Formats: sequence, structure tokens, C-alpha cells
Amino acid sequence: MKTLNVALADRSYPIYIGKDLLSQQSLLQQHIKGKEVLVVTNETIAPLYLDRLVASLDGYQTEAVVLPDGEQFKTLEVLNQVFDKLLASRFSRKVTLLALGGGVIGDMAGFAAACYQRGVPFIQVPTTLLSQVDSSVGGKTAVNHALGKNMIGAFYQPQCVIADTNTLNTLEDRQLASGIAEVIKYGLISDPAFFDWLEENIDKLTSRDPAALAYAIERSCQDKADVVAKDETEQGVRALLNLGHTFGHAIETGMGYGNWLHGEAIATGMLMAADLSARMGWMSESDVSRIKTLFEQAGLPVTGPKGMSPQQFMDLMAVDKKVQDGVIRLILLRGIGKAVISDDYDKAKLQQTLDFFQA
Ligand code: NAD
Ligand code: GLY
Repeated sequence: MKTLNVALADRSYPIYIGKDLLSQQSLLQQHIKGKEVLVVTNETIAPLYLDRLVASLDGYQTEAVVLPDGEQFKTLEVLNQVFDKLLASRFSRKVTLLALGGGVIGDMAGFAAACYQRGVPFIQVPTTLLSQVDSSVGGKTAVNHALGKNMIGAFYQPQCVIADTNTLNTLEDRQLASGIAEVIKYGLISDPAFFDWLEENIDKLTSRDPAALAYAIERSCQDKADVVAKDETEQGVRALLNLGHTFGHAIETGMGYGNWLHGEAIATGMLMAADLSARMGWMSESDVSRIKTLFEQAGLPVTGPKGMSPQQFMDLMAVDKKVQDGVIRLILLRGIGKAVISDDYDKAKLQQTLDFFQA
């Protein structure tokens, strides 16, 4: 098992990465303060892993709430089922919420923990590659609104993250690829050596080589933990973690939540950011080709969504959380491993990128 640390003073916490961690009773139990536990999961994950997790909670008053599965259920209405359960079972402020699932469950359980009785502890037990390398780390919690992704939420850090890499064995290939998009993101933002490694090892990741996956998860978590430690609430450098997200969130909202997976949408979004950067002379065409090739090898989309017009993109991008004083700020690239935040990009060239990706 590998242990990393998210350094946030009195809210610091460990990230554990390893095989079969769901069954390690003491690992889990050392981070639960009271005797009350509510596991938040969904109808796909519950039959696979709920019993194994509950078996590690011997001696606790444990209950579970099983939510419907899907990005389209990441709403305030569905979140209310968690509050219904907490109140009906008379859980106190000593309850710990355990998020067992992917990024949707992690974001929802974390937000529920931030709100219930003004804040109770929670633990992230991520079961998708995407959630193990990104969403379980850093304390961003949220639900979607019909008008915008992740628009209702809070920064709220977990007690720990327990990433059991064995759970990835049951993940569908398309979901694995979606997670690889977030892994590639770290190389593009600030870790060019990792990008080189990914080019060499992409086949090992897509074929689920355990050592390659473990290395990619550790390096991604370390890259993310370093950024979060510098800027927990995204006043500056953390915004770089949103590479591809302004375009990508527009795709997810525009195409209907759940139709494009998050990783698929941000892969296309990262390519759009690279395309715009190249049009402005900030990066070379050959670097854009390297990015496109890597996404293709990972099984990720490299063309725009069918039926979304440039105007629809612009309208949806205007709801992004990085908008300031009505100006859309974008994360762009000054080369592989050199992401920058910018509001002085060439607006005509943005239009060219949107036109180019119109399918
Ligand atoms: P997800 O949570 O929808 O999980 C993907 C699918 O895999 C679901 O159908 C799920 O039931 C299933 N699944 C989960 N674990 C499984 C397993 N071990 N075996 C088989 N099936 C399994 O999607 P995701 O990609 O994990 O997360 C995407 C979400 O994360 C989005 O809502 C996105 O906005 C959010 N996100 C949040 C952050 C953050 O910092 N908080 C960062 C990135 C993404
Ligand atoms: N996934 C972006 C962030 O955590 O900031």
C-alpha cells in the first residue's frame, strides 16, 4: 500500500492506494470518530462492494443508502434521499458518511456531509479510476443544476481517501478510458515527464496492467495533492486543474447529463484548448497531434459532439465558475506541461476552434 498526504494544516489527510483495502478493517476504522456510519452508494456498486465494506465495519451502527446510478441523478432532489435516511435513522452529528462509488457518489456524499447538521465527517472510498485519480481528492463536493454542472456545492475535505485498486477490475472499458483522460490531464498541466511516460505506457493502462495503473494513480494523486495544498479553494493555481473543463462541462450539459462521460467531455475539451492555443501560436501543431494520438489510443473522443452549435457552446460556457465580470476565462496551453489561465485569448480564434469542432 502507498500512502500520500494532502497537506492542509489541521485538515490534512492521507490517501491510501493499494489492493484489497476495502477489507482492511483497521485502516477504515482508525478514521471513524463515533460509532455511527452511513454508507452512501448506488445500485450498481452496492451488489459488488457494499457487503465487503460493511464487513469491515463490525461493531458500528451501520446503515446504507443506495441511490440511483447516473450523472442525471446528481441533483438536489436525489441528494435529499441521503438527508431522509440520516434523519429517519436519527443519526447524530457523530455520524461518518462513507462515499462508496465513483465521482458522482463522492461529490454527492461529500456535499451531504458538508450540510448535515452543518457538517459531519466523511470518508472517500472511490471505485472508479476517475474518482481515484481526481474527484476523491481535494474536497470539491457538488450536485448539478439543470443550467450548469456542479453549480451547487461546497469545499469540504474528507477524513481520508481509501482507493482500493482491485475495484477497478469490474469497471467497464469506457469508464476506464474516462479516468485515463483525467490522468493525461496532469501530464498536460504541469508534468511533461508524466506525459512522456503515458505515451510509452498507454497500452498497459488500457489493458489494466496493475503496476502501471498503480503508478498512474499515485502520480496523479501526488500532482493533485500538491496543487490543492497550495490553493484549496481555487483562488489561483487550482484553476489549472480545470483544463478542458469549460468546453467539457458545456458538452456534458449541452448533450444531457450522462450521455457524454465526464472524462470523454474533458478529453475533447482539452483538445479544444490545445487547438485554440496552437491557433494563437502558444503551442506547436505537433504537440496538438501528440495529445490527439494519446487520446485516440486511450479510446477517448477527439471530435466535437454532434448537434452542438458554436453559439450553444458559448451560451453554456458563460455559466462556467471561472467567469469573472462576464468574461470567460480559459485554461490554455503554452506547451505540454505548461497550462495557464487566460482571459486575453483571441476571441476570433476561439470562434474558429468552436467552428472546427462542430460535428
Ligand atoms: P460515476 O460516478 O458516474 O461512475 C461511473 C460508472 O461506473 C457508474 O455507472 C458507476 O455506478 C459505475 N461504477 C463505479 N465503480 C464501479 C466499479 N468498481 N465497478 C463497476 N462499475 C462501477 O462517474 P466517475 O467518472 O467516477 O465520476 C464522474 C463525476 O465526478 C462527475 O460528476 C464529475 O463532475 C465528478 N468530478 C468531480 C471532481 C471533484 O474534484 N470533486 C473531479 C472530477 C470529476
Ligand atoms: N477537478 C478539479 C479540481 O479538483 O479542482
